Formats: sequence, C-alpha cells, structure tokens
Amino acid sequence: MRRIAIVNQKGGCGKTTTAINLAMSLALQKRRVLLIDLDPQGHIAAGLGVRAEDSEKSIYEVLLGEIPISEAIQPLRKDLDGVLSDIVLSGFEQVMAGVQGREYRLAESVEVVAGTYDFLIVDSPPSLGLLTFNGLLAADELVIPVDASVFSLNGLGRLMETIQMIQKTKGHQFSLMLLAANIDRRTRFGRKLVATLESRFPKHFFKTVINTCTAIRESSSLGKPIHEHNRRCSAFHDYPGLAEEVLKEKKEGKLAPFNFRDLALKEFSVESPSDLAACRIPAESSAARLVEFAVDAPEEAAVWIAGEFNSWSPEALTCSKSNGKQRWCKSFSLKPGVYEYKYVINGKWMPDAANKCGVDDRRGGKNSVIHV
Ligand SMILES: Nc1ncnc2c1ncn2[C@@H]1O[C@H](COP(=O)(O)OP(=O)(O)OP(=O)(O)O)[C@@H](O)[C@H]1O
Ligand SMILES: [Mg+2]
Repeated sequence: MRRIAIVNQKGGCGKTTTAINLAMSLALQKRRVLLIDLDPQGHIAAGLGVRAEDSEKSIYEVLLGEIPISEAIQPLRKDLDGVLSDIVLSGFEQVMAGVQGREYRLAESVEVVAGTYDFLIVDSPPSLGLLTFNGLLAADELVIPVDASVFSLNGLGRLMETIQMIQKTKGHQFSLMLLAANIDRRTRFGRKLVATLESRFPKHFFKTVINTCTAIRESSSLGKPIHEHNRRCSAFHDYPGLAEEVLKEKKEGKLAPFNFRDLALKEFSVESPSDLAACRIPAESSAARLVEFAVDAPEEAAVWIAGEFNSWSPEALTCSKSNGKQRWCKSFSLKPGVYEYKYVINGKWMPDAANKCGVDDRRGGKNSVIHV
C-alpha cells in the first residue's frame, strides 16, 4: 500500500478537494483506495455527500484505540472506501495529552489494512498539531497543495521545518511533491507561481496543475467528486492527470532545506515581511507595452526565445537584414514588471549577450533580465 498524506497548514489551499478527486481518480483506475479524514471539519464526508447519520464510527474512535479501523471503514464509491471524521475529533489532542506514542496512532491503525488497499490517502487539517503529525507519520509520500497566494508560500517554510524535524527526530523519510492547486493561469501571479515552483523544484513539482474552475467549487458543495458533476469543465482532466503522475512512479528523495519565505519575498515582489501581510503584488492592471527582443545570428540559424512572459515555451524569432547583418526579432506585449529570458539558438539555451543584466538561472548558467 502506498501511503500519501495531503498536507499544508494553510487553510483553503485545496487539500480536501485534492484528496477527494485524487482518491476518486485512482479508484477509477481500478486501484483500491482508502481515504481517511483527519480534519475535525469533516469535509471529506460533506465533499462526497455522506450524511452524518450514515457514518456511525469515525476516525476518532480508531485513533483512541476503541475500535479497529476495519469497523470504521465505509464504502464511498466503487474501489473507494473511507474513514470519516466529525467535530468530536477536535478533542483528540487534549484527550491524548501526555500519552506515549500518540503521534503514531494512525500509522499503527492502518497497518492491518495495508494488504487490502493499493493507496492510503490522508486529508489533513489546516494546522501543524497532533492530528497532522499522525497523518505525516502514517505516510511516506507527501502531496503539498500550494494555491496562488503569498501566504501559501510563506507557510511552506513552517511546514518544511516540521517535516525536516520529523525526519531528523523520528528517522522517518518522506518523498515530497508540491502541487499547484486552484490556479488561475489568466493572472500573472498564477503563471509566475507555477513557473517558479517548476523551475526551482523540478523533481518535486507535479507537472499537472489544478486549474481554478467554478465547477469544482460547485461539486464540493454538491457532495460529488468532479467527474460526477461536470465532465466539460477546465479542471476535469487535471485530477486524472495528477493520478497518472502518481501512478507512474513513486517519487524518491526529499526536498533539500529551502527558504520559502525568501522565495515569497524576492520572487513575488514582496519587498519586506510587512508586505507579506499586505500581500502586495505588482499592479496587474498596468497597461502593457510592446517590447521587441532582437539578436544577431546567421540566416540559416534556428532562433527562439523563452522567458517568463511565455511560460518558458520557446517561440521562434523572425529574421531580417539590418546594416548588412542578420537580425532576429520578436515582439511581446508585456505588462510592467521584471522578466527573465533566454534565447535558444540552434538548440542551445543562452543569455542575451547584448544585455548585461542577468541572474543566476539555478542551473549553473545565467538568465537575462528585462525591466519593463
Ligand atoms: N480548482 C479549484 N477551483 C475552484 N475552487 C476550488 C478549487 N479547489 C478548491 N476549490 C474550492 O476552494 C475551497 C477550499 O478548498 P478545500 O476545502 O479543498 O481546501 P482545504 O485546504 O481542504 O481547506 P481547509 O484547510 O479548510 O481544510 C472550497 O470551496 C473548494 O471548493
Ligand atoms: Mg480540508
């Protein structure tokens, strides 16, 4: 059984929606999935349309050791079973105060069903307390949804510290994957978040991005996974895509220590910690300007440009003759801001030799930088 915990102490970043739709997508791929709700808000039950009176036993009794997990498991959909929670679970931390091994209660409980299921998916509460610790210690893979907010990035620092502390003190290793969730790629911030996480953590970032979509919000409130509600919405393919990535391989390795607060401060134009509170992001509405990029290269060359303005997807330049030289040009309509870019000439990525302004590309080279 693969054990995956969906964690992030930031509230509302998409943990429960991811847990439900990832679990459902895996079940649709004929994997046997056990979904466990560790959040006293009980949103898994609500998100799958289970009425409170239909679930007699909850994860609370299991964690207290009053019943074996098999007595609390209930079928939710084909190939998808669950252990649900309710508000009573909020007393768990208090009841267990001072009890030895209280952080391993979930890990020990699920051991007996390890042969029955292909996947354990745990939804965590928006806190770093005892319940989340139980989720972390029951898992060996972590999926961390990150939504498009500076607070999300800022909070990742605390989460990483907690994960590293568990790795150190408990000798428990995790593989760790960031998931861009609830992202509106029509906004510059959404695009920049995806591009930054992808370039900074290429081995720890799901290629599948979960797009913002009204139908997802509706499906949560109707108590349905997205595929039961709307198969035409923009995010319908995102969760199966995520499941496919999860199924492809178990990602190995842990994320090296990283200062996410610095990332929020530097990359997202949040200039000081107090700006984090104000969540100041460069004005989205400022008028765009036409900016021309030009580079000299032989006529027979293949010349492309890739940068933050086109999500690093190379686009071809066109060649013209100027003062007896072959000049390759392309214009982009760019809003005021700072953009990193590179030329791709005959397949080789290189900074703009005519632009002295550059930054480390985190791969041992340089990106050119343009201020618009
Ligand atoms: N891709 C999406 N598009 C639109 N709305 C979304 C998307 N993902 C999540 N939401 C909505 O955002 C809200 C918060 O999502 P969700 O409950 O999954 O977050 P959470 O991290 O589990 O929250 P909490 O921390 O309170 O447990 C919900 O109303 C949900 O429907
Ligand atoms: Mg939740």
